Amino acid sequence: MIEVRDLIKQYDDRVAVNKISFSVKKGEILGFLGPNGAGKSTTMKILSGFMPASAGSAKINGYDVEKEALQAKASIGYLPENPPVYMAMAVEEYLVFAARLHGVHKTKANTAARDAMDKCGITDVRHRLIGNLSKGYRQRVGLAQAIAHNPPVLILDEPTVGLDPKQIIEIRNLIRSLGGEHTIILSTHILPEVQATCGRVVVIDHGTVVAEDTLDGIAARMQSNVRVTLGLQKNPEDVLAKLQAVQGVTALSKTSKNEGEPFTVHVECAKGFDVRSDLAKICVSADLGLLTLNQEKLSLEDAFVRLITVDENTKEL
Ligand SMILES: Nc1ncnc2c1ncn2[C@@H]1O[C@H](COP(=O)(O)OP(=O)(O)OP(=O)(O)O)[C@@H](O)[C@H]1O
Ligand SMILES: [Mg+2]
Repeated sequence: MIEVRDLIKQYDDRVAVNKISFSVKKGEILGFLGPNGAGKSTTMKILSGFMPASAGSAKINGYDVEKEALQAKASIGYLPENPPVYMAMAVEEYLVFAARLHGVHKTKANTAARDAMDKCGITDVRHRLIGNLSKGYRQRVGLAQAIAHNPPVLILDEPTVGLDPKQIIEIRNLIRSLGGEHTIILSTHILPEVQATCGRVVVIDHGTVVAEDTLDGIAARMQSNVRVTLGLQKNPEDVLAKLQAVQGVTALSKTSKNEGEPFTVHVECAKGFDVRSDLAKICVSADLGLLTLNQEKLSLEDAFVRLITVDENTKEL
């Protein structure tokens, strides 16, 4: 339903999206997870025909977003990062207008608007001016305009940003209920959002895809990795390279030391390796004053943080 191939977007000298590829099957809810500046909104703007890519292609419902822009756009409901809701319009009036804009016949636009308001829980505020609504309610109006013309594909850029916890749960439930009938891609920088709504996740960082898997798949793959934390009396700077060279070690990071606390080194290792005794030997023979050595399994949250911070950690050494 959504096919992205080698998509590149360059803004002047900055590459925001660097050759990303992924696809979304009919009825699937895909989480597009990445930290601030990863390229999520850029990708979604390209998918929704809001701006062109520098290279590569994207197809929605079989239509190329550039070459068959009209057909592709007709298949999409798009909730941008900043929803384009008209502050001077009343909610219902705006939704009828949005439905008409998306090609809904005038005899059906009122019903389409009412259905969307009902689904998004905004029927009670339908006569109020959008400009007077709270941010959360405005976000709901944005979501309602995205679904009013009942498009097969929904592109939702951070749909729960700015909502209170109760509203977040309601909107996530709504999005989940829209899956199946609609194919959905939603961007977020928070993992619980993906866990609560999506079946599959594409993790993006610095404009490239760093992981793509089902939620269960990523959990299984990453949770089998372990992290060993060393507490040392002396600065381990000189032996970091040796620690890194131990077979099974995949990443290493030294945390900055606070007054009165030991030096700490986090060592991550691949599945099936027990590196503890090798690490201990290196620290003891270098006389670093090994105080503690703890091993823990990586949680899913840790796993994602690792996926998107691996470069920075390595650079720190
Ligand atoms: N119009 C623009 N001109 C120049 N650079 C831009 C423009 N829009 C975005 N960028 C840059 O492109 C990169 C990706 O931005 P993008 O908005 O796609 O990230 P994002 O993943 O949506 O981040 P956030 O979580 O903060 O919304 C960033 O480095 C950003 O500064
Ligand atoms: Mg964004």
